[in-house]
Formats: sequence, C-alpha cells, structure tokens
Amino acid sequence: MSRPRILVAMPVFDEVLARLGEVFEVDAPCGSDDYIEWTHEALVARLQGCVGVAVASSPRIDAALLAACPDLRVVASMAVGYNNIDLAACTARGVLVSNAPDVLTETTADFGFALMMAAARRITEAEHLLRAGRWTHWAYNLLSGADVHGSTLGVLGMGRIGQAIARRGALGFGMKVVYHNRSRLDASIEQQLGARWVGKDELMREADHLVIVVPYSAASHHLVGAAELALMKPGATLTNIARGGVVDDAALALALRERRLFAAGLDVFEGEPGLNPDLLTLPNVVLTPHIASASVPTRRAMAELAATNLIAALGLGPDAGRPPTALNPEVLALR
Ligand code: DGY
Repeated sequence: MSRPRILVAMPVFDEVLARLGEVFEVDAPCGSDDYIEWTHEALVARLQGCVGVAVASSPRIDAALLAACPDLRVVASMAVGYNNIDLAACTARGVLVSNAPDVLTETTADFGFALMMAAARRITEAEHLLRAGRWTHWAYNLLSGADVHGSTLGVLGMGRIGQAIARRGALGFGMKVVYHNRSRLDASIEQQLGARWVGKDELMREADHLVIVVPYSAASHHLVGAAELALMKPGATLTNIARGGVVDDAALALALRERRLFAAGLDVFEGEPGLNPDLLTLPNVVLTPHIASASVPTRRAMAELAATNLIAALGLGPDAGRPPTALNPEVLALR
C-alpha cells in the first residue's frame, strides 16, 4: 500500500526527516540545509498530492493555497507563532493546524533577556569598537550604559514567554515588573512573578526596559508606533522578540536616531529577512536574525513536535487522532 505523501517545506534535522520517512513518502526539497523562498505558485505545484505539510514561520498558507491544494489535510508548524497561516481558512476547509508551543519558552526567554541586556549594556557597540582597533585607553565614560538590575521591566504580552522573562527579571535581577496584556493573569501568578498589570500607555511610561512578546495579528499591527515610543523614557530600551510589524520599525529607528530612546534589541523585523535600512546605520540597536528560539535542543524539540503532530493528525503512530498541540482540533471530529 502506498504511504501518504507530505511536503517538508523548510530545512530540518536529518533524524526528523528519517522519522517522518518511516510513515510517509516525504518530499523534502530543502533537506537539512537549503532554505527555499517559496512563491505561491511553486508551493502549490509542490503540494499536489500531499496530505500534509510541515512549515515554520513561513511560507504563507492562505485560502487561495488551500483551494489549489485539495488533498491537504494537515499543516504542522514548528514555530509557536502562526501568523503565516490563515487558521480560519484552514478550519473552514477541515485542515488541521498545529504549532509548537512550550518547547521553546525558556530558550526564547533566555534570548529576549540577553538581547535586552546587550542593548542596555551596549555589548555589540563595544565589540565593534574593539574589533575596529578603536580602543585606546580605559575611560570612565567609555560606552557606559543603562543598569538592568533593580530597574523596571515592562513586558508587553504576558503569555508563556512573557512570564518566563518576567521571572528572570524579578527573581534573577531584582527588577520591578509591570506588564500589559489583554487579559490579566491570575492574582496568584501575578504574586509569584511580582508583576503588576498596567494599561499600555502606563507600561510605556514606566518601563526602563520594555520587552515585546505579543503574537502578530491585524490587531497588534504597529501596537508600538510613534505615539507609544513618545511615551517612553529617553533612557529606556525596547526589545522585540515577537514578530515584525508589532513595532513600527521606521518610527523606532527615528526615536533611536534622535536619542528619544536609549537603545533597542531586535530579533524580528517588518518585511524580514529584509529590514528597514535606517536600523543598519544606528549604533544603539542590537540586531539579530530571528534566532530567539535557536538553541540546538530547542530547535530539535520544535521539529520533533511538528513531526508528532503531523503523524498523529493523519491518524498514524501512537498518538493517532490526538495531535498534541492542534490549534483547531475540532476539525478532527468532523472527519
Ligand atoms: C516562533 O516559534 O514563533 C519563532 O519566532 C520562530 O518562528
């Protein structure tokens, strides 16, 4: 009997491909190394006859693609953010979607904290100076930055990753934590984290270090724009590990250039992998290429979870019919 066919649309660990290969006919054009920038047409062509596809934070899976790929039944993402997938369109077509929450929480929080600290303490700026041979003497005012310990941490988006960052700040660095989220945390969790809910404007005004961790959606587009940046302290930092588009990057670049904001740490960008060219000209921003979850064990766990979801959602393996992190499990009941 022929095995169901799936497409793995991004590079992934060999052992994950091997595991998928035990149950599926696997089309893996990227292997473990080759990134493909899929066009809609190329992806549609490649998906013909496929019942499942594994993706990450790209490519885009939308209604037009689903209509052109009638065999598709499962979209399994190895990312936690799924703004590249039209979940409503998938649900309407009976296509199960899964993402990869939890397995990346601590690794991503580590990175968010590191980026915030690098911005506050001017780490990359300092390294550039040293590598350029411009370090001539010790000076009391050489590259002095902002303190992190004992300052006020502002968290915009208090989901799993936001809470993990708050925990690091409160318990490890003695920070006062304020947060803004659509829904407030339980009082017991607020107490554990020593975190206080505030309105968004208040968050902007109070934070010495703002870390942004909200999912991207139409509602969160430019959630932090010129008006919000204008409320921030001139000595504050902003770190975005959420998604490009949550922050208005042009407004941010201007605030950084005019020193209305001390520094920023950005792992995600509007239009990535492209980015606003102004950002590249500024010394007071630390730039990284969307790698917050990129530790080897965590990326492996994310890929394994996507594989588990794919196998289970297609009725195979020990979890048959019970994909562990389905976003629209209701579609399974209709099959
Ligand atoms: C995620 O999992 O959402 C990360 O940002 C990688 O895309």
